[in-house]
Amino acid sequence: MRQFHPLTIERITPESKDAVRIALGVPEEFREEYRFLPGQHLPFEVTIDGKKLRRTYSICSAQGEFPLEIGVRVQPGGKFSEFAANELSVGDTIDAMPPSGQFHVECDPANANDYVGFAAGSGITPILSMIKTILAKEPNSRFILFYGNRRQSTTMFIEDLYALKNLYPERLQLNFVFSQEEQEFETMVGRLDGDKVRDLYKHFGAGLRATDCFVCGPDTMIRDVTEALIDLGMDETHVHSERFGVPRKGAKQQAAPKEAADHSSVTVIIDGHKKHFEMHRDDANIVDAAADSGIDLPYSCKGGVCATCRCHVREGEVTMATNYGLEPWEVEKGFILACQSRPVSDAILLDYDKI
Ligand code: FES
Repeated sequence: MRQFHPLTIERITPESKDAVRIALGVPEEFREEYRFLPGQHLPFEVTIDGKKLRRTYSICSAQGEFPLEIGVRVQPGGKFSEFAANELSVGDTIDAMPPSGQFHVECDPANANDYVGFAAGSGITPILSMIKTILAKEPNSRFILFYGNRRQSTTMFIEDLYALKNLYPERLQLNFVFSQEEQEFETMVGRLDGDKVRDLYKHFGAGLRATDCFVCGPDTMIRDVTEALIDLGMDETHVHSERFGVPRKGAKQQAAPKEAADHSSVTVIIDGHKKHFEMHRDDANIVDAAADSGIDLPYSCKGGVCATCRCHVREGEVTMATNYGLEPWEVEKGFILACQSRPVSDAILLDYDKI
């Protein structure tokens, strides 16, 4: 199983008005494990007031770059973000699992693609990694970014984006959209919703043949932008998205009807080893049921978003309550999010080693 390792904080600097940028040194012996694809994230674990807390943050460095950088927006009352901004110092260590996540791009120098990114707020972090990597590794590709924020002072990584624009003036197009600040063009004022996407495409999309679109932000923004892109003719298999935060749930995992409640036998294959436990079919989910039996399975958000708990159902049947982290093809091939799933059949076999 992917293990947590302590990473050393090499730098911690303000990044816009209400965010910090943290650079994490990876010890030489773990470098291989922490190689990542642009767009992937790191699950973190900290202990605050005696309670373990896990959160996932996207890497914003270019592929292959060390130290690994993340951007943390400080949410008032946000336990992890306030801890990161106020308690952590250079030289401290923080536990992080190796990178994971399906929201990524694989670069090929032979590509001559037009990539389009829609980011809202801290949704820029994985997309920044993609922009840096694509422009460096694919000399014939372009990146067109639409980046929504309240105002310039809260726009994360704005200096990095301008520096990239200086480096790649012909191949990077930056479009900042502010919801609470006047701009010269009315089109650039507002929120990134469906109408705004159509408007932006009308003004800036001429001649654009988007190969892939990457969308990162809160749940409603992802839904609106994705629908608008599909309306505009984009093939939905080329629209990739990643939510930040755990969406408010209408569909909270409900207890199964009592008559269906019974035991299931769960076997997991992880790091080549088999582990076994029993659970009630009306237990909340496989990850918690395993923990109750003393078996530690990977997880981070427990909200169906980060896909740290992704595994493959080799035998048996499960039901999954919420899925914001898997692509349709993954679900079709039998991948599930264990934090959102519980067994339906008498026995299930889950493979965590299948990629
Ligand atoms: S732990 Fe994040 S999706 Fe399951």
